Amino acid sequence: MTTATPQSITTGEWISFHERETFDLGVRIGEQLSGGEIILLNGPLGAGKTVLVKGIAHALGLDEEDVTSPSFTLVNPHQGRLLTYHIDLYRLDEGASAAHAVDLDEILTDETAVVIIEWGERLGSYPLPASVWRVGISGDGDEPRKISISAAGH
Ligand SMILES: Nc1ncnc2c1ncn2[C@@H]1O[C@H](COP(=O)(O)OP(=O)(O)O)[C@@H](O)[C@H]1O
Ligand SMILES: [Mg+2]
Repeated sequence: MTTATPQSITTGEWISFHERETFDLGVRIGEQLSGGEIILLNGPLGAGKTVLVKGIAHALGLDEEDVTSPSFTLVNPHQGRLLTYHIDLYRLDEGASAAHAVDLDEILTDETAVVIIEWGERLGSYPLPASVWRVGISGDGDEPRKISISAAGH
């Protein structure tokens, strides 16, 4: 049995002037994933969180067309180079426990999966076991996006 050891993701700040640049940054993140990483994405509606997830998905050998902003489902699993859970908490009912709504306990039992969570801040204080990265995107509409990647805890 092999155990994936999460590796480091390059941290820092980027400016993205176009959807393509955000997608490409997602590709570079995806290329660095080895399984066991949790990526919390934050930023306003229309910031480009899903665009970034599509880039990550592309790097993991998934069809990025399958990555959408889910209307009703909160969790979409995708099997590529790594099992990837794309979670979007935007439609989480106010006051609902995010971890309960998406059965995070169950998802996190697979320590080799990649878990990407849009509106990750809505998780609240749920204790995350693995390697956690925060990606913040600011700006929307025609504005350039400022994207920051930082390590949130290991
Ligand atoms: N620099 C950029 N990076 C990402 N998306 C951009 C950028 N400039 C414009 N856009 C547009 O912003 C929208 C982002 O949508 P989406 O990724 O669904 O946002 P979110 O998931 O954060 O709500 C897309 O329509 C995209 O074409
Ligand atoms: Mg989205």
